[in-house]
Amino acid sequence: LDFSSDNVTGVAPEIMEAIARANTGSASSYGADAWTARLQTQFSTLFEHAVVVAPVINGTAANALALSTCTPPWGAVVCYAGAHINGAESNAPEFFSGGKMVPLPGERGKITPESLDALLGSAVPILGRPVHTAISISQATDVGAVYSPAEVAALSHVAKNCNLTVHMDGARLANAIAHLRCAPGDITWRAGVDVLSFGSTKNGALAAEAVVFFNTALAKDFEHRRKRSGHTLPKMRFVSAQLEAYVKDGVWLRNAAHANAAASRLGRELADIPGVVIKGSVDANIVFAEMPSRMIEGLHAAGFGFFAMHGWARLVTSFNTNDEVVALFIETAKHFGQAQ
Ligand SMILES: Cc1ncc(COP(=O)(O)O)c(C=O)c1O
Repeated sequence: LDFSSDNVTGVAPEIMEAIARANTGSASSYGADAWTARLQTQFSTLFEHAVVVAPVINGTAANALALSTCTPPWGAVVCYAGAHINGAESNAPEFFSGGKMVPLPGERGKITPESLDALLGSAVPILGRPVHTAISISQATDVGAVYSPAEVAALSHVAKNCNLTVHMDGARLANAIAHLRCAPGDITWRAGVDVLSFGSTKNGALAAEAVVFFNTALAKDFEHRRKRSGHTLPKMRFVSAQLEAYVKDGVWLRNAAHANAAASRLGRELADIPGVVIKGSVDANIVFAEMPSRMIEGLHAAGFGFFAMHGWARLVTSFNTNDEVVALFIETAKHFGQAQ
């Protein structure tokens, strides 16, 4: 009954089985294993681009380490004000890069080429001012909106004109791609992305994310950055085995499509209940709904977990959200909608 996050659920069976299968014999440590080696080819094929893949175990590490490769201590990363990197990572990107975040306003977690252009165009190159060195965009955004390939390309165009590197926080990349139904390359390097934080934990892995370099020159020295952050795991094969199973046979997109469909149903059916207003379109696996307080209280009392503040409820679905639980949520919401 828990819609509070896509981290509250367990592990997808394909990934649990892959961990168990990797649990035989010995393997070289610290990423020198066969699983990690195979990832390089597997991800290069998946993205239709030669990539360097570096596994880590959470999204904060992926973001902070990825950004450290393109942000010197005097540099600045332009991002949406409410981005995870700017408000939910204990300043890890600043810590590992030494630079700072420059927040931009936006709608539903997205920044626009116009506001980026205005910011970069008005920057005065005076010694002592932070130098804008990268942009970071979240795909899908923290509130579940999805950038189209054209939107990413337009932002990259502005960024590249000013020599900025483009980072994508893809903690929910699978949900975005399942929504867009595009090739993984279309929403990443073909749209100008240089380095990607590739998520899988929220969509079925136990603990596995990766930094994926399309601009492989940025990967220089990454081994040292990752080691000093504590993310070069001695038994890395178990992280790589998760990532391998995650993208094999379309598990990642199947899982994400399931989560997206559950969110879409929640959004659609909640919208039909008088007093409920859905904020924006439901692109990925997150629904924002304005609800009467008696409905929020009633749903919480009935045992449903979700965040609610000032009359807004945030509902997050996952790869194994149960259809019957979605139906029960709707039924319960209707019940408390009627009770005046
Ligand atoms: C947009 C976004 N990026 C990154 C993360 C990764 O965070 P964590 O370090 O908890 O894996 C999250 C998790 O909530 C997120 O929502």
